[in-house]
Amino acid sequence: MRRLRNITPRQAILLAGASILGAAIGGSALTGHLGLALAVLGAVLAALAAGLVLVLHRLGTLGREQRKSQREQRAVLDQTQRRVLGAVEQMLLTAGDRHRELTELLATQQKAAANGTDRLLRAQTGEVEALVQLFQGFSPRAPMPSSGGFALNPTDLLDLLHLIHTRQPRLVLELGSGTSTVWIAYALERAGGRLVSLDHDPGYAEKTRIALAAHGLAEVAEVRDAPLRPVVVDGRTFPWYDVESVADLREVDLLLIDGPPEKTGKDARYPAMRVLEDRLADTATVIFDDAHRQDEAEALRKWVETIEGLTEEGEARGRHAVLSYRRIVRQLTPAE
Ligand SMILES: C[S@@+](CC[C@H](N)C(=O)[O-])C[C@H]1O[C@@H](n2cnc3c(N)ncnc32)[C@H](O)[C@@H]1O
Repeated sequence: MRRLRNITPRQAILLAGASILGAAIGGSALTGHLGLALAVLGAVLAALAAGLVLVLHRLGTLGREQRKSQREQRAVLDQTQRRVLGAVEQMLLTAGDRHRELTELLATQQKAAANGTDRLLRAQTGEVEALVQLFQGFSPRAPMPSSGGFALNPTDLLDLLHLIHTRQPRLVLELGSGTSTVWIAYALERAGGRLVSLDHDPGYAEKTRIALAAHGLAEVAEVRDAPLRPVVVDGRTFPWYDVESVADLREVDLLLIDGPPEKTGKDARYPAMRVLEDRLADTATVIFDDAHRQDEAEALRKWVETIEGLTEEGEARGRHAVLSYRRIVRQLTPAE
């Protein structure tokens, strides 16, 4: 009975029709109308057979649709599988390429590092050789302050002392005091000249004075406090050594430009040749440290381009460039 309550309206109609037909067949047979009963029964059987054919046809259609859907699903699955495999293959190829690239990069960097180490070792050897020559050339009377870093490298110092030995300057002017001041003072003590060194920093100036005194070189070299003041050169204002500190100097035979430090401003050393050209002897040597740095390289290029009689002596050696200065004196013509 519970099942009967769950049947659809269509099934209820069919059930009612079947009951009516059953009742009609039973009623006809019981009332002696056998022919009618048989006829209704035949019609019922024919209807059942037609229904069966319809159901079979429907089942066949459903089966075909199901197979078609399965084929389509398989095709989609195949396609998805192919795509996934393709993507994985591509990823493997890319990973392989990346691995090769990284391996090559690593090999290049290893080679560069090895070259860098090799260059560094060669440079170190050069510095050690220069240091040995410096100490063979002079026997300092007290421990020498360190070279390198802010101070000149041994190779630069060796070249500087050789220039002093060969050119015998009477007056050397140094911009930026330190270890180099002591070495120059030893060279001038032997060659018979004197050194004036400017320092913008009173602390470093004092440190250099103490070192000079410890080496007994205070008679040969003097460190002057020269605070940075605004100086106008080529229409630009630069913080540069107080020009009063060199007001008494004439005939500088050798000028070493190793200050102010770059942190004091852009093109920190550019004013040097502009301000000091008048203080140089008619023939002088200029040593410009850190000439490889961008600001200094640019300053060097401009000086050589615009200062008559100033020429660079060959390639830069170590970190410094050597320049020759020869004053050009023009004869005034009556028209001038
Ligand atoms: C390039 S250094 C001069 C070095 C000097 N000509 C030498 O070879 O020893 C220029 C200026 O930097 C300052 N200075 C020196 N050593 C320094 C350091 N370790 N740190 C910061 N400034 C320093 C000093 O005032 C010096 O005058």
